[in-house]
Amino acid sequence: MNYKMELTAEQAAILNGEQGETMAKVMKTLVMYGEAFGATKMVPVTSEKGHLVTSFGLKVMTPVYDLMDQLINAGITSKQKFSVDPKPVDPKVPSNFIKNFVFNKFMYTKQDSYDEQLRKLGLVSDDAYTCTCYMDQVGNLPKKGDVLSWAESSAVVYANSVLGARCNRNSGIIELFGSIVGYVPYFGLVTDEGRKATWVVEVKCSKKPEAQVLGSAIGMKVMEDVPYVKGLTEWIGTELNDDAKAYLKDFGAATASNGAVGLYHIAGLTPEAVEMGEDIIAENAQVYVVDDAELERVKASYPVMWKDPDKAPQLCFIGCPHLSLQQLKEWTDNVCEGLKKNGRAKVSIPTVFTAAPAVCDEFNKTEYAARLAATGVTLSYICPLMYMNNPVAKKGRVITNSNKLRTYTTSRYYTSEEILDIITKGVK
Ligand code: F3S
Repeated sequence: MNYKMELTAEQAAILNGEQGETMAKVMKTLVMYGEAFGATKMVPVTSEKGHLVTSFGLKVMTPVYDLMDQLINAGITSKQKFSVDPKPVDPKVPSNFIKNFVFNKFMYTKQDSYDEQLRKLGLVSDDAYTCTCYMDQVGNLPKKGDVLSWAESSAVVYANSVLGARCNRNSGIIELFGSIVGYVPYFGLVTDEGRKATWVVEVKCSKKPEAQVLGSAIGMKVMEDVPYVKGLTEWIGTELNDDAKAYLKDFGAATASNGAVGLYHIAGLTPEAVEMGEDIIAENAQVYVVDDAELERVKASYPVMWKDPDKAPQLCFIGCPHLSLQQLKEWTDNVCEGLKKNGRAKVSIPTVFTAAPAVCDEFNKTEYAARLAATGVTLSYICPLMYMNNPVAKKGRVITNSNKLRTYTTSRYYTSEEILDIITKGVK
């Protein structure tokens, strides 16, 4: 193969088939991918674990299963163990006969065999299905400066921005190849230059901006560029504590899905912004001012995809990306308080909170678990997007406080406060 980038002797040997034909194809794919983006070399993946985005056994993904089989049959396992995105179904989540029939007979018929393939290739554990693999309870937490081979956009933006790790917005399978061979192409967000901010965002709001709307506004404005956000520490503090991390998780997922942001810097808070200050801003960076009116404008621009927007919602999803333990506790307190205030015992519509299996386990050990169960809320490990991504589920009237879920499905966006009101007050 002809290539322009600089390869080490070991990398060139892999490419030339020293570790077998299948491994050579894996390396070739990564080299071609890197060259398409102007990569100058391949650099070692240094994180302890990988993370895969493809978690669902969709019947139509035959090429993926064939590819996995080729890797397994060639005796290849991933150099690093990996976690994977959440599963698409959970028997606990409210469903009906038709939905179950579609899920089990038509859509996710390959789930069990795909899970088995993941196990053979290097899945950390049967519990490692979540998009928030970086939660303490899950334990796939990269260190600052680690080079990663991940693809899940909400996890990539979190790892880059909050943890100071280095990862491009790769695609599914490419990230698996990087984990297998232990190298990724050197371009974009892996480089110092690519991590410079090309936008300065000035937050001038009169109250704490809703994380998911602020992220959405910034994502839609800067698209794949790197924003440096000023004025946010006034609302979320200068310490990366549980509150700030949860805020940035939700904010980042919105920047990554409503735009294509892979890295942001928060002045006075995130590691590289603290370390380098405004030196991390590139020359001639553009400026975007966000105030209350701008956030209102952005929120009002979201289309409502329901056939009948005036009808009451039928299902509510909270937890895309998956909730942290602290968020689960807060939501439990808020729902209990809201129900009490409104003289109700249970939530008014089927409501599902989603979190990583390990976070759910930890939550279930606390006194909050029984309180949440008493409100009628279901706790699940699924990905709401996967649950909704089919012709039957997408006809339902689903509400969410996730701007990612809103973007990719027919669900309707409400702020967390509005959602709380809807589920605890009753439906008009
Ligand atoms: Fe996670 Fe699924 Fe949302 S992977 S970010 S819960 S779309």
